[in-house]
Amino acid sequence: MAKKIVRDLEVKGKTVLMRVDFNVPMEAGKITDDNRIVAALPTIKDVLNRDGKLVLFSHLGRIKTEEDKKDKSLRPVAKKLSEYLKQEVKFVPETRGKELEDAVAALNKGDVLMFENTRFEDVPGKKEKGNDPELAKYWASLGDVFVNDAFGTAHRKHASNVGIADYSDEVAAGYLLEKEIKFIGGAVDDPKRPFYAILGGAKVGDKIGVIKNLLKKADKILIVGGMSYNFLKTQGYEIGESICEDDKLDLAQQLLDQADGKIELPLDLKVTKEFSNDAEIRIAAFDDIKEDEMGLDIGPKTLEKYTAMLQDAKTVVWNGPAGVFEFPNFAKGTEGICKALAEIDAITIVGGGDSAAAAISMGYRDKLSHISTGGGASLNYLEGNVLPGLDAVDDL
Ligand code: 3PG
Repeated sequence: MAKKIVRDLEVKGKTVLMRVDFNVPMEAGKITDDNRIVAALPTIKDVLNRDGKLVLFSHLGRIKTEEDKKDKSLRPVAKKLSEYLKQEVKFVPETRGKELEDAVAALNKGDVLMFENTRFEDVPGKKEKGNDPELAKYWASLGDVFVNDAFGTAHRKHASNVGIADYSDEVAAGYLLEKEIKFIGGAVDDPKRPFYAILGGAKVGDKIGVIKNLLKKADKILIVGGMSYNFLKTQGYEIGESICEDDKLDLAQQLLDQADGKIELPLDLKVTKEFSNDAEIRIAAFDDIKEDEMGLDIGPKTLEKYTAMLQDAKTVVWNGPAGVFEFPNFAKGTEGICKALAEIDAITIVGGGDSAAAAISMGYRDKLSHISTGGGASLNYLEGNVLPGLDAVDDL
């Protein structure tokens, strides 16, 4: 269904409340990956260029105790954003109250303010996570219109992205949310064919819904990464010490039974005897893993086969790394997939999480059609679920 987009809103002189997903990784107060901030800039700049008064808010991390709040302030994010915007981003270290209300009232056209981590409202009381109506109503009362550009949080039903919409006169999606839905939704619902999915990551359990949905939509599913071992073990092959969810073996077998030949498994793996970058490496065929070995990446024959298969693809969705890419000696499979995707003439989509982080860190940010900013959200969307954050946006 067509949704209202920020371009459809009259924002001049209005106080625009905008939910973004600035849940960025940080180490010792420093942002280590600012992709989500960069991805939100088009919507932010559009509102500022059209003389809106902008109030930004986001969660950061998961807040269960007072202690958790200590290193989860959004202040460093406001600072980083002001560098990108080349203007002051006023930071209010509160989630409600007079200081926040006065700062909002003092905004001029083209000014921007960010308030503190919405999940600080979860201690005490789980108000943000619990979609507390009083909190949602309060936040809505701070502005004139509400824009949701937080794709990464769209699978959550929280006060700051869903509840707030109930009390806002107008609710629109930002350009990032629009773009994510266009790419991921377009790939799944109306793909140019052949449509291939590459699915990896450690656990098959996290991706069962995605595999089931994509078996209906994709022409092939190429399996990589830790989940490969579930599929090998259920067929009776030795996988040694490789990662495997033994309680999901039946499910893996059911998926193979339903797949009608659509699921492709690795031909060979890079195996070692220790979980370490420096461990001695052997390339093992899929039916030749020894009891004391573990697979940490796909092997060269697998990469060659998958690369050849991808040559005629017109749409590819990839979610989940091919190996333990954090270890340089086991990053070749993941990097090889990035390279193959960058070189083909197809719509290439990376579905968030670790694979997105890998593609960006390996230098492929601008070489693929779309790298999603949502891990859980893109998985949910690939499963075919309704995203509450998107659902709450006004229909056109
Ligand atoms: C994410 O990083 O996937 C989103 O920001 C959502 O975070 P959450 O899983 O803590 O709700």
